[in-house]
Amino acid sequence: MSTITESGDPRPRSTGISSELPEAYAIGKSVSRQVRILGVAGSLRRNSYNKLLLKAASKLLPPSIELEIFEIDKIPLYNQDVEAMSLPEEVKVFKRKIEAADALLISTPEYNHSFPGVLKNAIDWASRPYGHNSFDGKATAVISAAPGLFGGIAAQDHLKQVLLALNTRLVPQPAVVVSLVQEKIDQDGNTLDLNTEQFMLQLIMNLVNLTRHFSQNGQTFVAPRLQPIIGV
Ligand code: FNR
Repeated sequence: MSTITESGDPRPRSTGISSELPEAYAIGKSVSRQVRILGVAGSLRRNSYNKLLLKAASKLLPPSIELEIFEIDKIPLYNQDVEAMSLPEEVKVFKRKIEAADALLISTPEYNHSFPGVLKNAIDWASRPYGHNSFDGKATAVISAAPGLFGGIAAQDHLKQVLLALNTRLVPQPAVVVSLVQEKIDQDGNTLDLNTEQFMLQLIMNLVNLTRHFSQNGQTFVAPRLQPIIGV
């Protein structure tokens, strides 16, 4: 079994735990070109756990997978009158970013057993104008984080229903539902929990595999092995 250092990735790891995930790094070698994932957090909060979860994901990925995080805070409230005149500049930027990405990774908080209105608002804009849905056919994965015990599972269910309506190609498994997130990620976006790392990596590898399934060369990644532990 090789180590992280032997795999050639010079970046520091987020936790000591993650040195047990060498396979996750080896995957980078089998990829012929950079895979670009657009990350979107459904929270405007400065210290949002869902933003931190995306940051944590970006720290775990091999160099062949790029995760750009897009902030939705400048997207105005959806108004069909405004749309009829012209799309706001920030909406055009968001749509372009989605369309240019190979895949989407959305990290959602849970508000009252659903996903936040700010996220729905951003999604509604990007689905418009009619016939120009930026999500159409896009490989997409959803993750969630919450300080409570349920980790946002109800929010994920609602969000996935919307994303299915927009014809995304959703990655169903594994469910990455980070409960008690304050114990699992630090304020710099380092994961403190092996399960969170492993499940998140597995989901992202499944997401990348899905994009490759629909791409020309069909090359696939080797996903890290999961341990049979329930919790995230
Ligand atoms: C919450 N929160 C919450 N948590 C949960 O697990 N289930 C829920 O239904 C709700 N409902 C809810 C409603 C509203 C209006 C707020 C503001 C919050 C708590 C929520 O998980 C917590 O504030 C997270 O920290 C929000 O995510 P970010 O901003 O940290 O990413």
